Amino acid sequence: MYSSTLPLLPLLFSTLSSCTLVADREYARASSAVPISKTIVSLSIEFCYIVDYLGDIKGSNKLSKRLLQNIQDITGEPPIIRIGGHTQEVARYCSPCTQTLTNVFVPGNLEAVNITYNKDLFSVLNNNVPSNQKLIFGLNLGQNVESFPQAEVDAAEKYLRNSRILSYELGNEPDFYGTSQRPGQWNVQTYTAQIIDWIKQIQSITKTKHGWQVGALAQLPIYQGNFSIPELNTLGVPQNIKPLASYSSHTYPYSICDPTRAGLVSLVGLMNHSTTVTFFQQWIPSIQAAKNANTLFYMGETGSVSCHGKEGVSNTMGAALWELDYVLNGAVLGMDGIFFHMGTPFFYSMWQPVEYNGTAAKVYPTYNALIVMAITLSNLKSPYVASVPSPSGLPNMAIYALYPSKPAFSSTAPAKLILLNMSYYSLNSTSPRPTEKVNVADILESTNLRVTRFTAAGADAVSGATFGGQSWENDGVVSGKKVYEQAEGGVVEVGNSEGVVVEVI
Ligand SMILES: *[C@@H]1O[C@H](CO)[C@@H](O)[C@H](O)[C@H]1NC(C)=O
Ligand SMILES: *[C@@H]1O[C@H](CO)[C@@H](O)[C@H](O)[C@H]1NC(C)=O
Ligand SMILES: *[C@@H]1O[C@H](CO)[C@@H](O)[C@H](O)[C@H]1NC(C)=O
Ligand SMILES: *[C@@H]1O[C@H](CO)[C@@H](O)[C@H](O)[C@H]1NC(C)=O
Ligand SMILES: *[C@@H]1O[C@H](CO)[C@@H](O)[C@H](O)[C@H]1NC(C)=O
Ligand SMILES: *[C@@H]1O[C@H](CO)[C@@H](O)[C@H](O)[C@H]1NC(C)=O
Repeated sequence: MYSSTLPLLPLLFSTLSSCTLVADREYARASSAVPISKTIVSLSIEFCYIVDYLGDIKGSNKLSKRLLQNIQDITGEPPIIRIGGHTQEVARYCSPCTQTLTNVFVPGNLEAVNITYNKDLFSVLNNNVPSNQKLIFGLNLGQNVESFPQAEVDAAEKYLRNSRILSYELGNEPDFYGTSQRPGQWNVQTYTAQIIDWIKQIQSITKTKHGWQVGALAQLPIYQGNFSIPELNTLGVPQNIKPLASYSSHTYPYSICDPTRAGLVSLVGLMNHSTTVTFFQQWIPSIQAAKNANTLFYMGETGSVSCHGKEGVSNTMGAALWELDYVLNGAVLGMDGIFFHMGTPFFYSMWQPVEYNGTAAKVYPTYNALIVMAITLSNLKSPYVASVPSPSGLPNMAIYALYPSKPAFSSTAPAKLILLNMSYYSLNSTSPRPTEKVNVADILESTNLRVTRFTAAGADAVSGATFGGQSWENDGVVSGKKVYEQAEGGVVEVGNSEGVVVEVI
């Protein structure tokens, strides 16, 4: 919009022309607000890396413990952790084994090909996490031996604290099983028949009362055909698997799994708000199917770029902004949780828990997706969210309204706004960061506002992100003094590749 060679003009021009977000009553958007869970941002940890993340019986991983505890301290609940992924399908409970967890790796593959664990893994899951930690525990369906998940549930029921278990997940991405996993006929009917049969057997033997997460489907809904969540309803999953805790689906909008798709990966593309909105619409029938079955819909494993992320894209400030846009948009669509996947060497992880291949443990900017949502939702009693149309001239500005509870009237003003300027600004740019001025006084029906800014040197920054002037990068311990900005006359500035949370005080 502005030329960087005219440094004075933008200030003058933008003051005169600040965009105004018109009030609720014109769009009646409060009536479209839906609940947003305080654990909307949750985590999925690749099974083979769980001990790296959570430590061993001798003690917790201090970095992970701190990072999870931070969120519990803010909202009362840490992110839910789903333990799973491809490697849940090669994991076995082994009571005589002497190690908490043993991985077998083959060269060139960052995912273990065989895993055994003993009861000490459950001590780790009991003791090395915040007090309110909840887990979704992934079970082995892939190897097609009923006694494997049976033994896993037996052990979990015996050794894992009852309150830790949110649900069990039987199988990871069953729609992508190859002929080595299922040499015979394999389709949505055989899958459904098998999990109903096995879960009933497991329940009758262990007497577990815990719920089940079903699906964990890998394919994009537009290509799923009938291997889909709506079809699971048709095939009687809700009547036969009880309690049905949640349906789950997986997605990575980009991939480096093959050269063709790798060539398409870009941070600018990832950050494109209209692409994000369009892409996730394909889950609407799955979300509706979960509601029809009176259960939850989780995006149960997700990240920016499949095959473990891309350095400079997945581990950046821009990826953190994408995650915020994703979870807010996902909540608007009716998703109940979005589980960002992690593994020690994976670039889309929110943090690397231990030293790996000569690189020190570190916290990535994407951890701030957890922090920003936790802080923003923490003082809203039972938060609701609605999407706010971008003002004309800013087609790609992502804006969301938050309410402390279900809005009573379509004209109810929101308590907070989140504005994400998804335009790309590089930390190496030699021109000043373009900054948009947006007048939010009308929509918030107040000029008594405070602003918390989420920023970094650029979208491509892999460190140095702050929220309200504070950083969690140093061992997960907050540093820096909390800074609120004012919004003079209700006008907030949002630079390219920055976000702000504006709240009425
Ligand atoms: C993994 O375990 C299977 C079954 O026990 C075994 O046949 C296979 O050789 C193991 N693979 C490796 C690489 O150790
Ligand atoms: C599901 O889709 C497959 C492949 O398109 C097809 O062969 C099969 O008949 C379908 N099954 C049902 C129950 O619709
Ligand atoms: C975002 O994607 C849309 C659709 O592909 C495209 O038309 C638009 O130019 C993109 N915007 C940016 C800022 O790249
Ligand atoms: C380990 O580091 C070396 C040297 O930097 C690099 O070439 C290699 O790809 C790394 N391996 C993994 C698995 O990350
Ligand atoms: C930014 O500049 C530094 C120093 O020249 C360089 O090392 C880095 O790769 C650049 N980053 C990007 C994303 O271009
Ligand atoms: C972000 O702000 C800049 C500067 O005003 C503006 O040019 C750009 O369109 C904004 N980006 C979005 C996505 O609205």
